[in-house]
Amino acid sequence: MNDQNGKAAKKPKKGKNGSDLFSPMALRGLTVRNRIWMPPMDTYSALAQDGKPTPFHYQHYVSRAMGGFGLIIAEATGVSPEGRISPCDVGLWNDDQIEAWRWIVDDVKATGAVMGVQLNHSGRKGSTGCFSLGFIGNTVPPEHGGWQTVAPSPIAYGHYSMPRELSVDDIHAIVGEFRAAAARAVIAGFQFIEIHAAHGYLLSEFLDPLSNERTDEYGGGLAGRMRLLVEVADAIRSVIPDDMPLFVRISATDWAAGGWDLDQSVDVAKTLKAHGVDLIDVSTGGIVPNVTVPVKANYQVPFATQIRERADVPVTAVGLITKPKQAAKIVARGEADAVEIGRAALRDPYWPLRAADKLGVPVAEAPYQPQYVRGAYR
Ligand SMILES: Cc1cc2nc3c(=O)[nH]c(=O)nc-3n(C[C@H](O)[C@H](O)[C@H](O)COP(=O)(O)O)c2cc1C
Repeated sequence: MNDQNGKAAKKPKKGKNGSDLFSPMALRGLTVRNRIWMPPMDTYSALAQDGKPTPFHYQHYVSRAMGGFGLIIAEATGVSPEGRISPCDVGLWNDDQIEAWRWIVDDVKATGAVMGVQLNHSGRKGSTGCFSLGFIGNTVPPEHGGWQTVAPSPIAYGHYSMPRELSVDDIHAIVGEFRAAAARAVIAGFQFIEIHAAHGYLLSEFLDPLSNERTDEYGGGLAGRMRLLVEVADAIRSVIPDDMPLFVRISATDWAAGGWDLDQSVDVAKTLKAHGVDLIDVSTGGIVPNVTVPVKANYQVPFATQIRERADVPVTAVGLITKPKQAAKIVARGEADAVEIGRAALRDPYWPLRAADKLGVPVAEAPYQPQYVRGAYR
């Protein structure tokens, strides 16, 4: 068969692994064109500090969609100004932000990719620095746009400022903020929602006994510590369409003795599934400081596999997955339903197209934009 350049199309080199990675995946009413996904990565680029994405965000997301990613998760997006990680985070706490997102979401979808948003409250890890403001790795003082952080208990994260303990009324208000942000996300055109319950931000602070010392209904045993996350999931489910998937990102371990671990993660995943959550995005760490993380290729994959098997729920794996064959194996072996390519996508927005070539996926089955087929790897 000849392609549009008149050259004979290359014979597939391997097909099997590549065909799993490039096979579609259905979640409720959504079909994702492949299993190569872009994880949420904060770009700290709402430089006007108004929570609105900008032309930078447009280029950032649309270029990865054109590069063939099946699914894109927009970066940590504050459900309130105090829920931002830094003053330069994007948000969905007001209606102007809906319009600022819409053109990005529309054009990502026009490429055939699907796009969702990660809704976040930063808790005790909020009000931190960013490249345009400075204070990197530190708390931003109020006179530079910072704010009083909040947490389940008055325990600071390392050298960050001391958070204020949330009252039960405050907690109920935060559930309402997640609900309202999700409703705005639907209006903006996002096709799924991811709740950020990982990396030591507010929802994971509630999960972890090392950061949650409450004695009321939001602390104590696992049922109390997961109550806020379950309430947030229920609140979001109540305002999004039935056919819209809901994801939750968790840290499967805090890598600390006596803290959050895989067994609790499996229990939470089972509970979330029963509350209408469709997929667990499995990361680790970030909850407590000064721990040793055994970072290497695939280091988080076994956690994803365990949660997939033991909680019987679809998962994505993430963390130092950088090579096409590596990604293909994870999916082909059923270790995860999809893989997320983070930092490698920052240096190569066209990672999926390169992977398709390396794995011998025929051009016609690779996620090329029609305008780019003549430039396809051959
Ligand atoms: C610049 C940058 C920003 C990130 N921001 C977020 C974020 O907003 N939300 C989140 O859950 N994880 C965030 N992460 C973590 C990534 O989603 C991903 O889990 C991590 O980079 C490991 O995957 P990788 O080895 O493929 O990069 C961020 C990572 C990077 C490098």
